Amino acid sequence: MEHQQNDAALLEEAGAIIRNGGLVAFPTETVYGLGGDAMNPSASQKIYAAKGRPSDNPLIVHIWDYSQLEEIAAELPPEAKKLSDAFWPGPMTLIVPKNDKIPYETTGGLDTVAVRMPSHEVAREFIRVSGCMIAAPSANTSGRPSPTTADHVWQDLNGKIDAIIDGGAVDIGLESTIVDISEDVPTILRPGYITKAMLEEVVGEVRIDPGIISENEHVRPKAPGMRYKHYAPKGDLTIINGAQDNVVAYINEASAKAVAEGKTVGIIATEETEALYRTGEVLTIGSRDDEDSIAHNLYGILRSFDALGVEIIYSESFSTPRIGQAIMNRLFKAAGHHMIDV
Ligand code: TXA
Ligand code: MG
Repeated sequence: MEHQQNDAALLEEAGAIIRNGGLVAFPTETVYGLGGDAMNPSASQKIYAAKGRPSDNPLIVHIWDYSQLEEIAAELPPEAKKLSDAFWPGPMTLIVPKNDKIPYETTGGLDTVAVRMPSHEVAREFIRVSGCMIAAPSANTSGRPSPTTADHVWQDLNGKIDAIIDGGAVDIGLESTIVDISEDVPTILRPGYITKAMLEEVVGEVRIDPGIISENEHVRPKAPGMRYKHYAPKGDLTIINGAQDNVVAYINEASAKAVAEGKTVGIIATEETEALYRTGEVLTIGSRDDEDSIAHNLYGILRSFDALGVEIIYSESFSTPRIGQAIMNRLFKAAGHHMIDV
């Protein structure tokens, strides 16, 4: 496997790997994807194998032109055109009824297909020169945080895939918003950078899948991938929620106690608070004035704490105005829903 730069010849080479049924990891504006030919059942099976992912968890088909959506959808509700005009290329995935062109290996046996047109220039060019639609989940080992750099992909998949296109760090850092338009009311199956309010401006009423917000474990999320036990850091992560002074005081006290007991502690801080913590490995996620920075750094920070091997992790809470829901959805899962209000 090569760690590649992305000039035209190398993208052409990567495209040939896809046409021949191989796997290539590539950058998108959200996270890195692990791509294979969406029409080739054996490529999809290889993707599941490389990630160690259950094969009933469907893949997202990446396209670069709207006509490709029309080519694989059984029917398109009016929201398809409206939402794609508003948010494609970009960090939104649409769930639509599939036709026979996309194999069930790619959709995990479902009669719907997830489709996304990424905005990252390298991703677009890669899909175009491959001549294929590219099925791609996030390019991490199942159960680890999604990769936001080529190095993260390398850590997880080195030796298991044919190539990595290195496009540097991604922009957003959280996976796309998934919007199911295969039923009556458009429904968010996974929150992301494109928010409910943004979607509602374009199509009116939008719902949030009860399965992703309910505390009741019997209400199952509709997206299979949102049901699986998700990434949990090696250290025991707790979110501390409240006014800044209370949060800092709580974390300082709890950390001092843990350190006195001989434990190693990590703290997820912000630029506003980093200087206020007195013990432990303090990693700064970003600034509260810039919620995009928090989304951008979240997965990398969680990987860093795994690498440091800390036993206990405290994180501040980030219910920021716009993408706070997406950030907290990921952080809650990583913490096994363990949050303390102070
Ligand atoms: O930003 C992203 O979406 C990234 C980049 C690479 O594009 N991809 C990504 O893929 O996050 P993945 O496989 O990690 O997550 C796809 C999610 C899973 O939760 C899966 O269950 C859900 O989409 N999904 C895919 N097809 C579906 C379908 N037909 N119905 C419901 N959920 C679906
Ligand atoms: Mg994933």
